[in-house]
Amino acid sequence: MIVLERLTKSFNGIKVLDDLNIKFEDQKITVVIGRSGGGKSVMLKHIIGLIRPDSGRVLVNGIDIGTLKRKELNEIRKKFGMVFQDGALFDSINIFENIAFPIRQHTKLKESEIKDMVYSMLGDVGLSGQELKVPSEISGGMRKRVAVARALILNPEIVLFDEPTTGLDPIMSDAINNLIISIHNKFKFTGIIISHNIEGAYKTGDVIAMLYGGRIIEMGSPAEIKNSKNPVVNQFVTGSMSGPINFNII
Ligand SMILES: Nc1ncnc2c1ncn2[C@@H]1O[C@H](COP(=O)(O)OP(=O)(O)OP(=O)(O)O)[C@@H](O)[C@H]1O
Ligand SMILES: [Mg+2]
Repeated sequence: MIVLERLTKSFNGIKVLDDLNIKFEDQKITVVIGRSGGGKSVMLKHIIGLIRPDSGRVLVNGIDIGTLKRKELNEIRKKFGMVFQDGALFDSINIFENIAFPIRQHTKLKESEIKDMVYSMLGDVGLSGQELKVPSEISGGMRKRVAVARALILNPEIVLFDEPTTGLDPIMSDAINNLIISIHNKFKFTGIIISHNIEGAYKTGDVIAMLYGGRIIEMGSPAEIKNSKNPVVNQFVTGSMSGPINFNII
């Protein structure tokens, strides 16, 4: 369903993605891991057409996203739910309206139906009673959960999560991971999660892919990644200072 083919992207002469190839399995959750600044968010933004590649293709259901006009792109975006790394909530509207936004935008459901959906989702993400606050009145972790709720509310075919648990306490991280797993079990969306939390990745991922040097250098089941013989993967998942990855800050 989602295929990235020979994707290359540079910013200011620096290659962030370099001939990257990956095929995301339908209805599975793939967790993409990799170093900070390694291009994970850039890769995700290519998939929804927010960034255009310098070369290569992004195929969604066989359609090359890079060739679409704005209107066609909007049409295909209805298939997607997206949790941005910074939440990207609408600051001036309350939590209820943030979560209801995709419903109002894409459906003609009645107010009572919208209420039922939003209240049920608020319960799922542990935000019951917070619905009348605006984003600036809630904590960072709560904003993350609103972003997750908004992405999942229409049960989209494809859901992209850019670090959905970063900044949450361990219990809330686990709750969000469980929420993603249970909604996935129910609706079988194709999920792509970017995460720095290796234990969370093992738990939520059917497949784990590591992005390094602008490419996917390894992809496999959690057990395969855990036991990887690739020294880069091994160093990354064990969080070791010694190994081929250079930890100098540039
Ligand atoms: N719109 C942009 N314009 C210029 N450079 C950009 C842009 N977006 C990303 N970059 C650069 O591309 C590189 C990869 O960024 P990206 O946000 O994809 O990293 P990441 O892997 O998501 O990191 P993190 O784990 O810290 O979120 C960085 O060097 C960043 O500065
Ligand atoms: Mg990022």
